Amino acid sequence: MISKKMSGVINGQINAELYSSYLYLGMSTWFSEKSLSGFAGWMRAQAQEEMFHSMKMLDYLLERGGSVELEAIAKPVRHWSTPLEVIEETAAHEAKVTGLINDLVDVALEERDHAANIFLQWFVAEQVEEESSVGDVVEKMKMIGNDSAGMFAMDMEMGKRVFTPPEG
Ligand SMILES: [Fe+2]
Ligand SMILES: [Fe+2]
Repeated sequence: MISKKMSGVINGQINAELYSSYLYLGMSTWFSEKSLSGFAGWMRAQAQEEMFHSMKMLDYLLERGGSVELEAIAKPVRHWSTPLEVIEETAAHEAKVTGLINDLVDVALEERDHAANIFLQWFVAEQVEEESSVGDVVEKMKMIGNDSAGMFAMDMEMGKRVFTPPEG
């Protein structure tokens, strides 16, 4: 049986992943309104990926006999003026989520919950990949700057991404 503390922080993370999904969905619509359909598609795939993370946390909690508490999801605020700002916020948000995952691992270690620790390592590795891929996009966007041909090409490139749920 999972401890109350471990169960509580996993519940919190279910909500955090849902918020991430909602935030990226908002970014996706922002890009759609700017006629950047490639970026919009990339963000929608990002939103689907966060929904998948949240379900993975939820299923784990059920498997461990914890009780799932679904809390309200905060409203994401759309306040960007350039595509670069949106991508930079994505990078900052992912860095914040990495911190949250690390906090969860700390709790698993405190509680001597080795099973939860192993489960959370998947998320630790996932965050390394996410931070790296969005960091890459930030760098490319900075290179492009105000070059509209560059933006056009980047939009095409971003549009290639499709979400496929990872194995396991
Ligand atoms: Fe996530
Ligand atoms: Fe993420």
